[in-house]
Amino acid sequence: MSGPCHLVIFGAAGHLVSTKLLPALYHLERAGRLEEPLGLVAFARRNWDTERWCIHVRDALAMHYGADLDTTTADRFAARFEYVQGDHRDPANYQRLLDHISKPRPGVCENIVFYLAIPPDDFVHVVRNLDAAGLNSAAGRHRIVVEKPFGTDLASARDLNAELHRHYREDQVYRIDHYLGKETVQNLLVFRFANSVIEPLWNRQYVDHVQITVAEDAGIGERAGYFDQSGILRDMVQNHLLQVLTMVAMEPPANLEADTLRDEKVKVLRSIRKIPRGAVDGFALRGQYGAGEVNGTTVPSYTDEPGVADDSRTESYVALRLHVDNWRWRGVPFYLRSGKRLAARRSLVAIRFRDPPHQLFCDTPCANTDPNWLVLEIQPEERIRFELQAREPGLAMTPRTLRVDTDYRSEHEQRLDAYATLLLDVIDGDQSLFIRFDEVEAAWRVIEPVLEHWRRSSEPPVTYPAGSWGPEENGALFETQYQSWRNAL
Ligand code: BG6
Repeated sequence: MSGPCHLVIFGAAGHLVSTKLLPALYHLERAGRLEEPLGLVAFARRNWDTERWCIHVRDALAMHYGADLDTTTADRFAARFEYVQGDHRDPANYQRLLDHISKPRPGVCENIVFYLAIPPDDFVHVVRNLDAAGLNSAAGRHRIVVEKPFGTDLASARDLNAELHRHYREDQVYRIDHYLGKETVQNLLVFRFANSVIEPLWNRQYVDHVQITVAEDAGIGERAGYFDQSGILRDMVQNHLLQVLTMVAMEPPANLEADTLRDEKVKVLRSIRKIPRGAVDGFALRGQYGAGEVNGTTVPSYTDEPGVADDSRTESYVALRLHVDNWRWRGVPFYLRSGKRLAARRSLVAIRFRDPPHQLFCDTPCANTDPNWLVLEIQPEERIRFELQAREPGLAMTPRTLRVDTDYRSEHEQRLDAYATLLLDVIDGDQSLFIRFDEVEAAWRVIEPVLEHWRRSSEPPVTYPAGSWGPEENGALFETQYQSWRNAL
């Protein structure tokens, strides 16, 4: 079947669209990947017409790309849009949408992507209205793309899903997690399964522990309305960090078909040992930033951010110890952490290998050589580092750490934004990098004991200074004294 003829964006005047979707679509336009007859439709409440919308598109792109914007491409891209003004909750507005998308144009087809860049509470209104307008046929390849958060706990995620499934089948639903579109995250698959020297080491026999860090130096900005209700455990761990964990821990899939891949990922999530309700503090730590200095600028505490109550107990930092109880990983802790207003914006997967069984090259019987590490940097750079031990030149037989680094993108290769990758997949109808509902359920199950414990607990989150690497109590989750967080490549 040929590609879609329309990409309809609900909530088009919102922040996500200006900062992520429009730049990503422009990038695809520039690369010649938005093939005709694909038409773009922006649906929003703002009282604009198509001409005014095009000005908005060009402004958003100028803001994002600055001097790198190619104005001819930007004009051509903006001209592909039609603007439909209206409230997406009102069924009456869908007739106008229908008029737009059935306008005679070359290659008219029924293949349409609906992108719901709107608050989750509104998903139900839109799918109901689309269904009533006859825009839900699987044969016509009507697809909907939904952003996170998908529910606020297991029960609400199930309710939301039941509503979606009343109108759309699972194979029409694309739940986006932009971390799966990131280059290094996808590279985990290739790195693991295309190298015969790596896979034999990828198990409990050789791996001591795994760390997954997603650190941000930014605070919550203007997002208190959402973030203060959510907290970082829901905002980052339930989706992004657990998804990265599945890519690290999954078994080799039989092939790269979407469901085969997702079957393996969901098996990992289901193998994560349930955190005992009575012992959550031994597995999870929550923190909240106090005032501090980030990149040379003094910044306020979390509770002094606009829109946050003085007594808010929402966590802006979380660290977890998880165990994947299966044949490959039993006994290997997975440490996850994510936080706002940390010392740097940096995301890493760091794998520490076990010490050799016999320490041959030490001066004293108790001294150990440094361990082998494999570190994959997700951002800001996309790099891989392997740390090995080699002989230090000189007279003594002393080992020293050799760093094998690779920036796996060569200079002429363009960086592709995660959204651009994922949008192309939606257009191509490939669900591999989208979250299936059983993954959503399993991920909620992993974090529910922690959410529940924090909800009941009288202990507030620990405070950490903005610009630090999180609360000092951080180390308490490690199983042994030689384990500690790795903050840099
Ligand atoms: C979003 C979260 O999903 O991911 C934000 O809601 C977070 O709170 C963002 O800042 C981080 O994404 P990235 O790609 O900048 O690491």
